[in-house]
Amino acid sequence: MIDTSRILCIGAGYVGGPTMAVVAAKCPHIRVDVVDINEARIAAWNSAELPIYEPGLDEVVRAARGRNLFFSTDIAGGIRDADIIFVSVNTPTKTFGQGAGYAADLQHWEKTARQILAHATRDKIVVEKSTLPVRTAQAMERILDGNPAGVRFDVVSNPEFLAEGSAIADLERPDRVLIGGHDTPAGRAARRIIADIYATWVPRERIIESNLWSAELSKLTANAFLAQRISSINSISALCEVTGADVDEVAYAIGTDSRVGPRFLKASVGFGGSCFKKDILNLVYICRSHGLGEVADYWESVVAINEWQQSRFVRNMLASMFNTVAGKRIALFGFAFKADTGDTRESAAIGVARQLLAERAVVVITDPKALGSVREELPEEGDRIECEIDPYRAARGAHAIAVMTEWRIYRDLDYARIFASMEKPAFVFDGRNILDHKRLHEIGFNVYALGKAPLRHV
Ligand code: UDX
Ligand code: ADP
Repeated sequence: MIDTSRILCIGAGYVGGPTMAVVAAKCPHIRVDVVDINEARIAAWNSAELPIYEPGLDEVVRAARGRNLFFSTDIAGGIRDADIIFVSVNTPTKTFGQGAGYAADLQHWEKTARQILAHATRDKIVVEKSTLPVRTAQAMERILDGNPAGVRFDVVSNPEFLAEGSAIADLERPDRVLIGGHDTPAGRAARRIIADIYATWVPRERIIESNLWSAELSKLTANAFLAQRISSINSISALCEVTGADVDEVAYAIGTDSRVGPRFLKASVGFGGSCFKKDILNLVYICRSHGLGEVADYWESVVAINEWQQSRFVRNMLASMFNTVAGKRIALFGFAFKADTGDTRESAAIGVARQLLAERAVVVITDPKALGSVREELPEEGDRIECEIDPYRAARGAHAIAVMTEWRIYRDLDYARIFASMEKPAFVFDGRNILDHKRLHEIGFNVYALGKAPLRHV
């Protein structure tokens, strides 16, 4: 008999932390323990300064922490005491051996499975929250089935679809919750127990049940489709620039077709984040290992276009700034991979900064939340980069501003004041198409926006 009054979550990262905070807030009758091997991270979850920045997270954590939400490093105790175990440890891209650069690195995942096996004394439901290659549950079951104590483990896949910056809203009002389990009486029962937890606050019709492999594959496919939309519009942005079409107008025109829909059609300097590239390359690897070369190539091109878009952006900067940026101060507005997050993983700004530095530019980075990661993301660049929290100071004496992240504050700056403080001719490269280009041109800037004709004075 599974005890449904407790939940353990192994892995207190971007997924585990916010997800469990919302579960605890919505289900005061359930005790939720979140454990992690990283002591500093757990200490941060127990402090006033949470380890991740996410709008609304502080309030949710404050409401439940110490009541029915607990953060600790006691992994063994947690496994012993809870029958429902969510696993949300990191599964980065492998950097070594077979599949390096593509396949998911499952070492943390497997270690967790072995920890569960070592400490479980009663039957458990193990819930895959981390994004995993399809059929990982089978590997997990093989490890868990090896237990001498006769403990029964049911593995369920419950992929997370939250997006950073809107994680709390996504968790509180999800489009859907997906729960995959085996199509056996035990599998269906396990699935139902997890569905009942979500049903406390999510309407039943939004809770989808499926077989295990469909749930695992749906997560990778959902991210691949979202990324593909961005690469599609980004590829068209290049064509807009040479034909006089405007990419925002094209996106609006196609997005009003209800079959296409308006979201995820915003041209950008490139998608970033911890998921899209990793998940697509994982999908590519799985397809190749099943002999599906054409399918693999198709999805890999989504990543290739994304990288090309970043390089194209820098090439355009160079071409418009008289083919040299050496010694020129360039202010990057934004370093996070998108607005409303301090996360910089795979941010397009990293690649752009690196390419500008290779051209010997003086790069100044400003960002309201992400400056702390600049040195970590660009370790080889050392003191060649300046970090400046104030965008006005970042732009002072600069030849160009390049918008990397769509932070709202960048729309509302006093650009006349900024223009006055810059070297002339002054350039703006809008990698997010968020600024008022006509107004900037009137102020005196040479304005280059993605997928639009440039507005020049020189
Ligand atoms: C993504 C998925 O959206 C989420 O469902 C999944 O669980 C994890 O991966 P996330 O990486 O947090 O979430 O951010 P998302 O909002 O999807 O943005 C990813 C990147 O695409 C960002 O760099 C964003 O700026 C970029 N983007 C998004 C565009 O360039 N254009 C768009 O139209 C939308
Ligand atoms: P995600 O974005 O998938 O949540 P993160 O890297 O933010 O990924 O978080 C994953 C967390 O899992 C990290 O805090 C890491 O310390 C933790 N972790 C990794 N392996 C283990 C393990 N064996 N036991 C407990 N926690 C682990």
